[in-house]
Amino acid sequence: MVKAAVLVSGGGTNLQALLDAQERGELGPAHITYVVSNRKAAYALERARAHGIETAVLSKVMQPDLAAYDAQLCALLQEHGAQMVVLAGFLGIVGERVLAAYPGRILNIHPALIPSFCGKGFYGLHVHEAVLARGCKVTGATAHLVTAGVDEGPILLQKAVDVLDGDTPEILQRRVMEQAEWQILPRAVKMLAEEMEQTK
Ligand code: GRF
Repeated sequence: MVKAAVLVSGGGTNLQALLDAQERGELGPAHITYVVSNRKAAYALERARAHGIETAVLSKVMQPDLAAYDAQLCALLQEHGAQMVVLAGFLGIVGERVLAAYPGRILNIHPALIPSFCGKGFYGLHVHEAVLARGCKVTGATAHLVTAGVDEGPILLQKAVDVLDGDTPEILQRRVMEQAEWQILPRAVKMLAEEMEQTK
Protein backbone atom coordinates (compact mmCIF):
# COMPACT_ATOMS: atom_id res chain seq x y z
CA MET A 1 0.00 0.00 0.00
CA VAL A 2 1.13 3.58 -0.72
CA LYS A 3 -0.31 6.11 1.71
CA ALA A 4 -1.49 9.21 -0.17
CA ALA A 5 -2.16 12.62 1.36
CA VAL A 6 -4.40 14.95 -0.66
CA LEU A 7 -4.04 18.73 -0.34
CA VAL A 8 -7.18 20.75 -1.06
CA SER A 9 -8.51 24.32 -0.97
CA GLY A 10 -12.00 24.30 -2.46
CA GLY A 11 -14.99 22.21 -3.45
CA GLY A 12 -13.01 18.99 -3.63
CA THR A 13 -14.46 17.57 -6.84
CA ASN A 14 -11.02 16.20 -7.74
CA LEU A 15 -10.76 14.64 -4.27
CA GLN A 16 -14.19 13.13 -4.83
CA ALA A 17 -13.01 11.65 -8.13
CA LEU A 18 -10.09 10.06 -6.25
CA LEU A 19 -12.36 8.71 -3.50
CA ASP A 20 -14.80 7.27 -6.05
CA ALA A 21 -11.93 5.68 -8.00
CA GLN A 22 -10.59 4.20 -4.75
CA GLU A 23 -13.99 2.67 -4.00
CA ARG A 24 -13.98 1.12 -7.49
CA GLY A 25 -10.53 -0.31 -6.85
CA GLU A 26 -9.01 1.88 -9.54
CA LEU A 27 -6.20 3.56 -7.55
CA GLY A 28 -3.92 0.51 -7.56
CA PRO A 29 -1.77 0.42 -4.41
CA ALA A 30 -2.57 4.05 -3.54
CA HIS A 31 -4.73 4.58 -0.49
CA ILE A 32 -5.99 8.05 0.46
CA THR A 33 -5.38 8.31 4.20
CA TYR A 34 -5.10 12.05 4.85
CA VAL A 35 -6.63 15.29 3.56
CA VAL A 36 -5.11 18.67 4.41
CA SER A 37 -6.74 21.96 3.50
CA ASN A 38 -5.34 25.48 3.59
CA ARG A 39 -8.91 26.76 4.04
CA LYS A 40 -11.09 25.60 6.93
CA ALA A 41 -14.26 26.28 4.93
CA ALA A 42 -13.26 24.01 2.05
CA TYR A 43 -16.12 21.64 1.20
CA ALA A 44 -13.44 19.13 0.28
CA LEU A 45 -13.02 18.55 4.04
CA GLU A 46 -16.67 17.45 4.26
CA ARG A 47 -16.07 15.01 1.42
CA ALA A 48 -13.09 13.53 3.29
CA ARG A 49 -14.97 13.29 6.60
CA ALA A 50 -17.88 11.54 4.86
CA HIS A 51 -15.36 8.84 3.94
CA GLY A 52 -13.87 8.66 7.44
CA ILE A 53 -10.57 10.09 6.26
CA GLU A 54 -8.40 12.01 8.76
CA THR A 55 -8.29 15.74 7.96
CA ALA A 56 -6.24 18.76 9.00
CA VAL A 57 -6.39 22.48 8.30
CA LEU A 58 -3.28 24.59 7.96
CA SER A 59 -4.20 28.05 6.75
CA LYS A 60 -2.13 31.12 5.95
CA VAL A 61 -4.04 32.85 8.78
CA MET A 62 -2.67 30.25 11.18
CA GLN A 63 0.83 30.48 9.73
CA PRO A 64 1.50 33.53 7.49
CA ASP A 65 5.23 32.92 7.19
CA LEU A 66 5.80 30.83 4.03
CA ALA A 67 8.90 28.99 5.30
CA ALA A 68 7.22 28.15 8.62
CA TYR A 69 4.08 27.05 6.75
CA ASP A 70 6.17 24.76 4.57
CA ALA A 71 7.87 23.27 7.64
CA GLN A 72 4.56 22.73 9.44
CA LEU A 73 2.94 21.15 6.38
CA CYS A 74 5.95 18.86 5.95
CA ALA A 75 5.74 17.84 9.61
CA LEU A 76 2.00 17.07 9.31
CA LEU A 77 2.59 14.91 6.22
CA GLN A 78 5.53 13.02 7.70
CA GLU A 79 3.93 12.50 11.12
CA HIS A 80 0.98 11.01 9.26
CA GLY A 81 3.27 8.73 7.29
CA ALA A 82 2.23 10.05 3.89
CA GLN A 83 4.33 8.50 1.10
CA MET A 84 2.94 10.55 -1.79
CA VAL A 85 1.14 13.88 -1.99
CA VAL A 86 -1.65 14.85 -4.41
CA LEU A 87 -2.55 18.51 -4.98
CA ALA A 88 -6.27 18.43 -5.85
CA GLY A 89 -7.41 21.98 -6.41
CA PHE A 90 -4.82 23.12 -3.85
CA LEU A 91 -4.13 26.86 -4.07
CA GLY A 92 -1.45 26.96 -1.38
CA ILE A 93 2.29 26.90 -1.82
CA VAL A 94 4.38 23.73 -1.70
CA GLY A 95 7.74 24.90 -0.40
CA GLU A 96 11.24 23.47 -0.56
CA ARG A 97 10.87 21.41 2.64
CA VAL A 98 7.90 19.48 1.27
CA LEU A 99 9.51 19.21 -2.16
CA ALA A 100 12.70 17.82 -0.61
CA ALA A 101 10.78 15.33 1.54
CA TYR A 102 8.78 14.02 -1.45
CA PRO A 103 11.04 14.14 -4.53
CA GLY A 104 9.12 12.92 -7.58
CA ARG A 105 6.27 12.01 -5.24
CA ILE A 106 3.99 15.05 -5.51
CA LEU A 107 1.26 15.18 -8.18
CA ASN A 108 -0.78 18.17 -9.36
CA ILE A 109 -3.77 18.50 -11.66
CA HIS A 110 -3.74 21.62 -13.84
CA PRO A 111 -6.88 22.57 -15.79
CA ALA A 112 -5.11 23.25 -19.11
CA LEU A 113 -2.75 21.50 -21.55
CA ILE A 114 0.66 22.48 -20.14
CA PRO A 115 2.74 24.36 -21.41
CA SER A 116 -0.30 26.41 -22.46
CA PHE A 117 -2.09 28.59 -19.93
CA CYS A 118 0.00 27.66 -16.92
CA GLY A 119 2.37 29.29 -14.47
CA LYS A 120 1.83 32.26 -12.18
CA GLY A 121 -1.75 33.51 -12.12
CA PHE A 122 -3.20 30.64 -14.16
CA TYR A 123 -5.50 28.87 -11.71
CA GLY A 124 -9.25 28.20 -11.41
CA LEU A 125 -11.46 30.21 -13.74
CA HIS A 126 -8.56 32.44 -14.83
CA VAL A 127 -7.30 29.53 -16.95
CA HIS A 128 -10.58 29.09 -18.81
CA GLU A 129 -11.05 32.85 -19.24
CA ALA A 130 -7.65 32.99 -20.97
CA VAL A 131 -8.46 29.95 -23.17
CA LEU A 132 -11.69 31.58 -24.34
CA ALA A 133 -10.04 34.99 -24.80
CA ARG A 134 -7.41 33.39 -27.06
CA GLY A 135 -10.10 31.67 -29.12
CA CYS A 136 -8.77 28.15 -28.56
CA LYS A 137 -10.80 25.28 -30.03
CA VAL A 138 -9.27 22.67 -27.73
CA THR A 139 -8.17 22.77 -24.12
CA GLY A 140 -7.89 20.08 -21.45
CA ALA A 141 -6.08 19.07 -18.27
CA THR A 142 -2.61 17.93 -17.26
CA ALA A 143 -1.48 15.68 -14.42
CA HIS A 144 2.16 16.39 -13.63
CA LEU A 145 4.82 15.99 -10.97
CA VAL A 146 5.42 19.06 -8.82
CA THR A 147 8.84 20.70 -8.82
CA ALA A 148 10.10 24.06 -7.55
CA GLY A 149 8.83 25.90 -10.64
CA VAL A 150 5.08 26.53 -11.05
CA ASP A 151 3.50 23.90 -13.33
CA GLU A 152 6.93 22.92 -14.71
CA GLY A 153 7.30 19.33 -13.51
CA PRO A 154 7.30 16.21 -15.73
CA ILE A 155 3.93 15.50 -17.34
CA LEU A 156 2.31 12.14 -16.54
CA LEU A 157 -1.04 12.39 -18.36
CA GLN A 158 -3.01 14.88 -20.43
CA LYS A 159 -6.54 14.79 -21.85
CA ALA A 160 -7.99 17.17 -24.45
CA VAL A 161 -11.46 18.70 -24.28
CA ASP A 162 -13.33 20.61 -27.02
CA VAL A 163 -14.12 24.29 -26.55
CA LEU A 164 -17.68 24.83 -27.82
CA ASP A 165 -19.41 27.91 -29.22
CA GLY A 166 -21.10 29.82 -26.44
CA ASP A 167 -18.88 28.41 -23.71
CA THR A 168 -18.55 30.60 -20.66
CA PRO A 169 -15.55 30.13 -18.34
CA GLU A 170 -17.86 28.32 -15.91
CA ILE A 171 -19.28 25.96 -18.54
CA LEU A 172 -15.80 25.22 -19.90
CA GLN A 173 -14.38 24.65 -16.39
CA ARG A 174 -17.08 22.11 -15.66
CA ARG A 175 -16.45 20.26 -18.94
CA VAL A 176 -12.70 20.20 -18.31
CA MET A 177 -13.26 18.84 -14.81
CA GLU A 178 -15.79 16.21 -15.89
CA GLN A 179 -14.10 15.07 -19.09
CA ALA A 180 -10.44 15.51 -18.19
CA GLU A 181 -9.43 16.28 -14.58
CA TRP A 182 -11.60 13.68 -12.90
CA GLN A 183 -10.47 11.09 -15.48
CA ILE A 184 -6.71 11.59 -15.49
CA LEU A 185 -5.98 12.41 -11.84
CA PRO A 186 -6.96 8.98 -10.50
CA ARG A 187 -5.03 7.33 -13.33
CA ALA A 188 -1.95 9.41 -12.56
CA VAL A 189 -2.17 8.56 -8.84
CA LYS A 190 -2.36 4.86 -9.74
CA MET A 191 0.61 5.19 -12.12
CA LEU A 192 2.80 6.90 -9.52
CA ALA A 193 1.81 4.51 -6.72
CA GLU A 194 2.56 1.49 -8.92
CA GLU A 195 5.94 2.91 -9.83
CA MET A 196 6.66 3.50 -6.12
CA GLU A 197 5.70 -0.08 -5.26
CA GLN A 198 7.98 -1.44 -7.97
CA THR A 199 10.95 0.62 -6.79
CA LYS A 200 10.45 -0.17 -3.08
C1 GRF B 1 -10.79 23.79 -10.28
O1 GRF B 1 -10.58 25.01 -10.95
C2 GRF B 1 -9.99 22.73 -10.94
O2 GRF B 1 -9.93 22.97 -12.33
C3 GRF B 1 -8.63 22.92 -10.34
O3 GRF B 1 -8.88 23.32 -8.98
C4 GRF B 1 -10.19 23.92 -8.91
C5 GRF B 1 -11.07 23.33 -7.83
O4 GRF B 1 -11.03 21.96 -7.92
N1 GRF B 1 -7.85 21.72 -10.43
P1 GRF B 1 -11.75 21.04 -6.78
O5 GRF B 1 -13.22 20.99 -7.14
O6 GRF B 1 -11.54 21.73 -5.43
O7 GRF B 1 -11.09 19.72 -6.89
